[in-house]
Amino acid sequence: MNILLTGGAGYIGSNVVLSLIEKGHNIHIIDNLSTGNSELIPPEVNFTKCNINDVHKIEKIINNEKFDVLMHFAGFIQVEESVRLPAKYFENNTENAIKLFETCKKNNLNKIIFSSTASGYGSSNNDLISEKDNLNPQNPYAESKVKTEQYLIENYKEIKSIILRYFNVAGADKLLRAGQISKTSTHLIKILSEVAVGKRNKIEIFGNDYNTPDGTAVRDYIHVSDLAEIHVEVAKHLVKNNESNIFNCGYGIGFSVLDVVNAANKLCNGAIHHKFSKRRDGDVEKLVSDISKIKKYINWEPKYNNLEEIISSSIEWEKKLNEKNI
Ligand SMILES: NC(=O)c1ccc[n+]([C@@H]2O[C@H](COP(=O)([O-])OP(=O)(O)OC[C@H]3O[C@@H](n4cnc5c(N)ncnc54)[C@H](O)[C@@H]3O)[C@@H](O)[C@H]2O)c1
Repeated sequence: MNILLTGGAGYIGSNVVLSLIEKGHNIHIIDNLSTGNSELIPPEVNFTKCNINDVHKIEKIINNEKFDVLMHFAGFIQVEESVRLPAKYFENNTENAIKLFETCKKNNLNKIIFSSTASGYGSSNNDLISEKDNLNPQNPYAESKVKTEQYLIENYKEIKSIILRYFNVAGADKLLRAGQISKTSTHLIKILSEVAVGKRNKIEIFGNDYNTPDGTAVRDYIHVSDLAEIHVEVAKHLVKNNESNIFNCGYGIGFSVLDVVNAANKLCNGAIHHKFSKRRDGDVEKLVSDISKIKKYINWEPKYNNLEEIISSSIEWEKKLNEKNI
């Protein structure tokens, strides 16, 4: 397949690029490097540094190459920042995304895979959240993604889209070719890895008074390399069937923040210290996926469904960043 891929210099996009290259697909990355890093772009792909809202540049790229699918990863992802600066999130995650989709539609690139988020569901009383559950975004980041989903759903006649609602993505490529670089990440396993290599001295746990077994928030952590494989299979499915759909991407298993910290401490001989703080605005109690739908439609079997493996790959990646002074 020929894939136009936005956000390929970022954490998830770069891991998907590796999986696509391994399977022999051709990729053209568009990224403005606002939060991404050019070191994550492999030499064998085409790369254009530009904003996804740059209609002229993108039209030219689409018309020069014939793409089967657009994979859209580019966006801003920090929940806390979105609470402070909501307009920044609606502009990039919604308006710019829709501008990009319109450019694609106008130029007959009408198959789109969109990186959405499980945070669109808000909290749920169900043990597992299915794609049929109501959306109830609790912060501007989640709302900006839900609005973009709505555009794709409303334009179902012209655009065939697969919306992927990621749960908590973590870990790094096992050959350490790609992982998360952001210095301002708010992701638990990334921060915990920074503690493990001495970049921070402790981890702050936001809220220990949730209605969960140990009082800390529960999430479904999926290894980034398994998520990358999902994208390859979903693209094949979309090209073959030309049908829109929505899939949860997780493992269907919930771990509390303390479960994750304890697992990391087993790997690091108790070196990860923590302190409890107040709940953060916009955080929800529990988010665990029902993955029966994706398993029914997509030929995908998780390979890294193991919390310790996720954490240790993330720590190894952090050590590599440390050695390279990144
Ligand atoms: N990381 C997670 O746990 C998670 C969970 C749910 C959903 N997602 C979604 O997955 C996608 C990728 O997330 P990530 O963790 O890789 O983030 P990231 O910040 O590492 O990567 C985003 C990339 O998009 C680029 N970008 C941002 N705005 C752009 C623009 N206007 N034009 C061109 N390039 C632009 C950045 O430079 C960066 O390379 C995002 O859309 C995010 O909402 C991520």
